[in-house]
Amino acid sequence: EIHEQPTAVKTTITPRINEGMPDFSECGLDDEKLASYNNIYIVACGTAMHAGMVGKYVIEKLARTRVTVDMASEFRYRDPIVGKGDLVILISQSGETADTREALLISRKKGADTLAFVNVKGSSIAREADMVMYTHAGPEISVASTKAFTVQISMMYMFAFKLAYAKKVITEEECREYVHKLTQIPQLIEKTLTHDDEAQYAASRIMNAESLLYIGRGLDYALSMEGSLKLKEISYIHSEAYAAGELKHGPIALISEQTPVIAIATQSNIIGKTLSNISEVKSRGAKVVLMCSEDTVIKENVADYIIRIPQCDELLMPILAAVPLQLIAYYTAILRLFNLDETIASGIFDGVTYPWEVLPKIKDYIIELGNTLPTEEYDHPSENIWIAKSASVAPTAYINGPCIIGRNAEVRHCAFIRGNAIVGEGAVVGNST
Ligand code: F6R
Repeated sequence: EIHEQPTAVKTTITPRINEGMPDFSECGLDDEKLASYNNIYIVACGTAMHAGMVGKYVIEKLARTRVTVDMASEFRYRDPIVGKGDLVILISQSGETADTREALLISRKKGADTLAFVNVKGSSIAREADMVMYTHAGPEISVASTKAFTVQISMMYMFAFKLAYAKKVITEEECREYVHKLTQIPQLIEKTLTHDDEAQYAASRIMNAESLLYIGRGLDYALSMEGSLKLKEISYIHSEAYAAGELKHGPIALISEQTPVIAIATQSNIIGKTLSNISEVKSRGAKVVLMCSEDTVIKENVADYIIRIPQCDELLMPILAAVPLQLIAYYTAILRLFNLDETIASGIFDGVTYPWEVLPKIKDYIIELGNTLPTEEYDHPSENIWIAKSASVAPTAYINGPCIIGRNAEVRHCAFIRGNAIVGEGAVVGNST
């Protein structure tokens, strides 16, 4: 589904472009009606809500119209101040999420117009909204939303362009230019997908962490929330997303060598600020993976590892930035959950189709320590050390670095491991280890 995104985005935006301009006539929303709304709300859950957050930044920036984003589960229970003359946009892949559906019904009851961006045809939310625009991601099988997110963002852009033009904040020419840039995005997603090995490397750096922080500002903050959700949802590693500027107000206390940070910095007006937040976390020992555009000049040693995203209009960056974030979550999940030691222990890397076919690079990032580890020092603080399946680690062995302890391995009493460890099924870790 991650790799289906170029097609999904293209299929979603193409029918909404008429002679180079955004066209929402399929749901009956013309410029006059659109420009008349007093307030705009975006209500959704989870990933769809993160798409709404991106929408808020883009709509406010382009159309100079205030947008309130709400989690549907909060909105529905707090007697929201919404009514006639307001537009409530509901975003939902399935069209069946109970909280989002209830938010829709409440908004309608209070007299607001409702517009749903939904992926599943004929779903409850699609049927019950005043207006519906379908995203065309195709069936979403994976529990973790990926292509649904990027098509939702694409619709948010189309809406923002349309509203900005309807409100005469941008000219027809500018509107056409934005639409044109959006049509280039599927190609750039393709290009982003070719940086797959960078995501694999980043995954190999974070796979042993117990907790991670995602940071960014503005649009990058919205993306941080989505990146963090993807990671926790499929790799089961705890992570938080923080607006980078908020770090100093408390959460910086959590940062240590054991807490990798994924920083997203695609917006030139605030990149300096984010970079200074990165130096704060680095001074506390955190390893930093930085995501920024191809053209950004980053001084040496600012981050431990940089993932470059193809350059495009900064406003459109979130669609591209979503891709490596999804891949990082995906590969980290595979590394943590796949029975790695089984595969590696079989000693036939190239004969096994999985996971090496999926992760051709990963084996370069893992140090294999073999079957019997005598009393010695193994010093690999920034690599992943794999202790083979059924290996025996001598008492008083000293291992400095994050470890994967293979299945049924025996790490005998008093061995010393400095770094996070994933302990394989049946592995025995002795007293005082
Ligand atoms: C995360 C994810 C969820 C959904 C959320 C809303 O990967 O899939 O957070 O985005 O449950 O679902 P829909 O969009 O179907 O309303």
